Amino acid sequence: MAHVVTENCINCKHTDCVEVCPVDCFHEGPNFLVIDPDECIDCTLCVEECPVDAIYPEGEVPAEQSLFVLLNAELARQWPVISVKIPAPDDAAQWDGKPGKRDLLIR
Ligand code: SF4
Ligand code: F3S
Repeated sequence: MAHVVTENCINCKHTDCVEVCPVDCFHEGPNFLVIDPDECIDCTLCVEECPVDAIYPEGEVPAEQSLFVLLNAELARQWPVISVKIPAPDDAAQWDGKPGKRDLLIR
């Protein structure tokens, strides 16, 4: 099992999560972060850090978000590690909870 970043991270990208991860398993894309499932040790620390509640244990990912399980594994192989918080996008607040954000994912 691993933890999984889901749709609500897209265009929010607060990066509070990366600061607490003891094994540096977050990887950064242009408007989304993913967790490398081979590195995550399920410590759960990142879950509470995300201001938009985008992170779930793999076994609790909502059914309509299930594609993000494989997407985290796939994109973690392509994107660089991020372990230091960076400023969120200026318009992050307006994207919280917006439906259909998966179509806006930039790879
Ligand atoms: Fe990192 Fe722990 Fe979150 Fe896994 S559960 S991504 S190890 S902070
Ligand atoms: Fe995304 Fe939440 Fe981390 S918005 S970058 S999962 S703190």
